[in-house]
Amino acid sequence: DVIDIRELGKHKHFTYDPGFLATAACESKITYIDGDAGVLQYRGYPIEQLAENSSFLEVAYLLIKGELPSKAELDNWTYHITHHTMVHDQMNRFFSGFRRDAHPMAIMVAVVGALSSFYHDSLDINNPKHREISAIRLIAKVPTLAAMSYKYSIGQPFMYPRNEYSYSANFLHMMFGVPCAEYQPDPILVRAIDRILILHADHEQNASTSTVRLAGSSGANPFACIAAGIASLWGPAHGGANEACLTMLEEIGSVDRIPEYIRRAKDKNDPFRLMGFGHRVYKNFDPRAKIMRETAHEVLGHLGAENSELMKVAMELERIALQDDYFVEKKLYPNVDFYSGIIMKAMGIPVSMFTVMFAMARTTGWVAQWMEMIAEPSQKIGRPRQLYTGEKHREYQSIDKRK
Ligand code: ACO
Repeated sequence: DVIDIRELGKHKHFTYDPGFLATAACESKITYIDGDAGVLQYRGYPIEQLAENSSFLEVAYLLIKGELPSKAELDNWTYHITHHTMVHDQMNRFFSGFRRDAHPMAIMVAVVGALSSFYHDSLDINNPKHREISAIRLIAKVPTLAAMSYKYSIGQPFMYPRNEYSYSANFLHMMFGVPCAEYQPDPILVRAIDRILILHADHEQNASTSTVRLAGSSGANPFACIAAGIASLWGPAHGGANEACLTMLEEIGSVDRIPEYIRRAKDKNDPFRLMGFGHRVYKNFDPRAKIMRETAHEVLGHLGAENSELMKVAMELERIALQDDYFVEKKLYPNVDFYSGIIMKAMGIPVSMFTVMFAMARTTGWVAQWMEMIAEPSQKIGRPRQLYTGEKHREYQSIDKRK
């Protein structure tokens, strides 16, 4: 049931809903979730079918334009994304200002926001052509910046994007290629990256997407809005969970230590939570997790890493949590980040880059949501209300009279 607060009379009523457990902030035609039934659809298409049959760029087109592309439309879209992957050479100087041990998410917040200082020709948000070129620039350049933030941290030269590669193959090339040797992206790993990107591309009004919409509702430029989304995604309760999950698996270290962590997760006096378990919306199972689980077995099998200690810990944790009364009662299922972290670790992507990968994928969803909002004629600036619980009226006292 939906109560439309506007019908109750402007400014006379407002809801108190911290955490937005039951408040819709907008209408949207992009992503549909039924958390109880474990359903996720982009523009009406089930996520399972898209993950099985689509490429990431096809899904990006669908999210942004609303329809699956024809062959000619997809070719044209791919051409434009591919030919915008380079960043301005001046951008290299931004990187040298960061400490080598800076977290890549800290770098991403800064450099994605900085894109707005390079593209003055696309900042008029009321011009649909400007919105379109900004969308293309963001989707094309975020992977380049992501790979640059990694290369910078390990002291290797930046790798220029290569137009003959697919979106995901190009990302692997920019991450793992070096100028002195040929690097051939492994098709199984390319497919796994594509799947990770597809599954993380949009998830309706989560914290980071809502942040992008709220920032954008004031008319801020899209690069600044996406930088705000990246900042919001970084937290461990949101996109930072994949990193936190892997760190936890490594800390557990061996199967015999699992009971101790299960006990801690149930102890209400201990702030510890089992990272990679539970979801605000999916209270049955996370449909993305099911697909990621299959991909995890495929990738680890391909790389011969299925019997690694990390994988043993992960599988045992999954087994125990799925049977344990506490986790079953509270409907705490492994979420998509539980498996995506395992896959990325096996591929050699450093843990600190996990949330950056999430940001790369979600950039498409953020952009689609931002475009939908800006195109809406009745769009208003987002302005939540509050319940004021502080002091009411007090008389000012000069400092010599205060206690
Ligand atoms: N481990 C142990 N207990 C948990 C966990 C967990 N991972 N998650 C929730 N609980 C417990 C809570 O303590 C609470 O118990 P109570 O009813 O006795 O107070 C109950 O389950 C409900 O938890 P809430 O925090 O109220 O649920 P909410 O829907 O607000 O939180 C969230 C969802 C933030 C994802 C939570 O499950 C969590 O912190 N999980 C771990 C972090 C994580 O994996 N996040 C990734 C989300 S997926 C994504 O962003 C793509």
